Amino acid sequence: MTYDITLTDRGLNITLDEAPTYFNAFWLRDACTSCIDTQTRERIFDTSVLATPPKVKKAWVEGDFLQIVWEGEDHISTVPMTLLHDVATYGRPYDPADLSQNRWMGDFGPQMARVAQSDVLHTDEGRARFTRAMIEDGIVIVTGMEPTKESLTDLVGTLGSITPSAEGYFFEVRVEIEPTNLAFTSGPLEMHTDLPGEEAAPGLQFLHCLENTVEGGLSLFLDGAAVAEALREEDPEAFNLLATHDIPFFYRHDTLDYRAHQRVIETDQHGNVTGVTISQHLQDTIDLPQDLLDDYYPAFVKFIRMLQEDRFLMRFRSEAGNCVVFDNHRIVHGREGYVADSGSRHLRGCYADRGALRSTYRVLAKKGFEGLAEPALKMA
Ligand SMILES: [Fe+2]
Repeated sequence: MTYDITLTDRGLNITLDEAPTYFNAFWLRDACTSCIDTQTRERIFDTSVLATPPKVKKAWVEGDFLQIVWEGEDHISTVPMTLLHDVATYGRPYDPADLSQNRWMGDFGPQMARVAQSDVLHTDEGRARFTRAMIEDGIVIVTGMEPTKESLTDLVGTLGSITPSAEGYFFEVRVEIEPTNLAFTSGPLEMHTDLPGEEAAPGLQFLHCLENTVEGGLSLFLDGAAVAEALREEDPEAFNLLATHDIPFFYRHDTLDYRAHQRVIETDQHGNVTGVTISQHLQDTIDLPQDLLDDYYPAFVKFIRMLQEDRFLMRFRSEAGNCVVFDNHRIVHGREGYVADSGSRHLRGCYADRGALRSTYRVLAKKGFEGLAEPALKMA
């Protein structure tokens, strides 16, 4: 295969998939395979050491690499053609963890991924199923949890480390005599994401059900990204207000006073919904201009009401031995009230980082576990 290459002052054009594609010379110099140390895998070339901006003297394709001779530099660069194709097609290097979100509605329960804890702990395939479903669906039930305190630590350990919050490494959801949080009562808990008052609200939440024999207290979950998209469809102005302005949240006790601003609807640079942040019980006094609130509050109220609609809500009973794991920036959760003296209800919770989740999936993808099956089964 031959490639048309034309040089310019600041880069080159190369014909990829019959279309000329421009690459900047600095970027090409940085993309040379020799810039990355094979031992540490860190970058060992720094473009700022070049006396003048890099300029291509000659370039050609040889095998799977673009070869570049530079003006005034005794160095021939090799740039993988797969990288050039990926950047031309996707705008960035290939990332196996860059999976589309599978947006879901209230009837999602039967399709929700369920993976046994022993599979997650002991098999690459189990970990791949768990991490892929977490990225795509934002929620997974891990079944057959060992009924010990260490069980949750072991599960999180398959991804990375527990992320501490203002409450420490773990929290216990059960009725307390002097509760510091509405979760620690038997009352209903409206739909929310956890700890928006913290500068970096937790990424992943784990809720290990150790005991649940009470009447009522069904767990409620919904896909906040699906609700946000429905709002965009039904009321684009309201969507834009919630996706544009930050509002304040807090977490406050005798010895704590956390405050942070968050955007209720989070979008990426392309405008795609990436997540939501909502918590009426941790919402602080809104400090947007008062005349903006004439429009913001109706939009905010509309979104909160949508978060209570049956079409989005998935209800299920937390069963002892299960651990619900969900993306705290996307999945909105709550609880129906329960009869406190009808039995015992105890959930042990903790948080972890979404970066750790994607890191684990990428490593498994490199080993061939990109899908739900083992590589050998996938090829068959
Ligand atoms: Fe919560």
